[in-house]
Amino acid sequence: MAGIWTRKSLSSLQIEAAAGDSGDGEVRHLKRSLSAVNLVALGVGGIIGAGIFVLTGHAAAANAGPAVSLSFLLGAITCAFAGLCYAEMASTVPVSGSAYTYAYATIGELVAWIIGWDLILEYAVGAITVAIGWSGYFVSLLGNFGIHLPPQFTTAPLAYDAATHAWSTTGAFLNLPAIAIVVAIATLLVIGIQESARFNNVIVGIKLTVIALFLIFAAPMVTPANWVTAANPDGAFIPPAQENGIFGWSGVLRGAAVVFFAFIGFDAVSTAAQEAKNPQRDMPLGILGSLAICTVLYVSVAFVLTGIVPYDRLNVPDPIAVGIDAAGIGWLSSIVKIGVVTGLTSVILVLMLGQTRVLRAMAHDGLMPRGAAATHPRFRTPHVATIGTGVIVAGLAGVLPIGLVGELVSIGTLFAFAVVCVGVLALRIKHPEQHRPFKVPAIWLVAPAGAIVSFILMLGLPLDTWIRLAVWLAIGLAIYFLYGRHHSKPARR
Ligand code: ALA
Repeated sequence: MAGIWTRKSLSSLQIEAAAGDSGDGEVRHLKRSLSAVNLVALGVGGIIGAGIFVLTGHAAAANAGPAVSLSFLLGAITCAFAGLCYAEMASTVPVSGSAYTYAYATIGELVAWIIGWDLILEYAVGAITVAIGWSGYFVSLLGNFGIHLPPQFTTAPLAYDAATHAWSTTGAFLNLPAIAIVVAIATLLVIGIQESARFNNVIVGIKLTVIALFLIFAAPMVTPANWVTAANPDGAFIPPAQENGIFGWSGVLRGAAVVFFAFIGFDAVSTAAQEAKNPQRDMPLGILGSLAICTVLYVSVAFVLTGIVPYDRLNVPDPIAVGIDAAGIGWLSSIVKIGVVTGLTSVILVLMLGQTRVLRAMAHDGLMPRGAAATHPRFRTPHVATIGTGVIVAGLAGVLPIGLVGELVSIGTLFAFAVVCVGVLALRIKHPEQHRPFKVPAIWLVAPAGAIVSFILMLGLPLDTWIRLAVWLAIGLAIYFLYGRHHSKPARR
């Protein structure tokens, strides 16, 4: 059993980062072409998506009222703790496996495997969730132009009732738009990292423009009069508490757990470390810069949205559109919808990018089938890992209902955050001499706080989600003991 505690030495990881492989000559280098701007844009591209455009309304109506902007601020603080730890790790160990590799370097192979397996929940399941959301928005946008696609080809054939735990069929055939967008993005990812980054830059430009337009035209209509509702007759910024998690401070906290999904994605920047021109300097910039930009935008959008329409009207799938109509700037509605549809594509892109890089790193170490570590001779992308990821994500996005997968993404991400926070501290203790281009300030405060807050947010998720996480990890452990342990290259060495 000693192998399960095998650690990859920092020096071997640094050789891997510099050479693109571990010196055995089998694996071609990925292409180092991403600038600091590309990395910040990847972060923003991955972060801004369904969370802000959909969940804001639900968190305001059900949990926090106008104080949903505070929920976003709390969510951002949680992510900032983890973001600082990711930034230190990514600049010190700039290889593409992200949290998986950090755990391999600090804790040992078994924990690394668990985190690598867990990251599938964040990246692949995240991409599935957003692809299903994209399909919904796309179909509705086409409807605006008088094009109506038959629902049996645009919705999931499977439905899941959380209350009775029962599966049923809906009569639909497949969610074809969800499959199509995943296939298109996987193709782009195979063609090249530079091409993918360029596409992402354009999408981020569109997304930021749409949000700026919303803020500019809606901000003048903000009035505290809109804070007044039946449940909040005095128009308090934080409506009076009803029960646990519904308004009051506990509602603000619950709201933070709900909108946490909106921040997921900044950590995916770290998976591009081996494709960055200057990872030591630019990884922290990409991770923390994108998080900072999105925090400012999220808090502003949440504040403006709840200032232009009473929050009790926002429990809908398209809260921004409801706000726009209420503010009398209906002309913006189609523009925002186009912005959402285009904007979600970059979230799928960044999450799939993250999945392929983690998968490649795991295959490179022998914990996943070796073929997935291959790099395309011309495109210099991990084409096998990308095509494999694309097939699985497209297949599941085509059949699964969105409600089932969303919360799994949050719990998987929070788990990885907690491990990275612990890992960064472990590395400081074990290797204090290590050169760290970026250092977490007040590490003894930030790292434990990051781990604790992530765990608290996990506790806020429903029991069902925990059970699904446990089942997923149990499957992962079985695969590790049956396959990975016997094929691990670092353990054999
Ligand atoms: N943060 C991403 C989104 O909100 C996952 O869509």
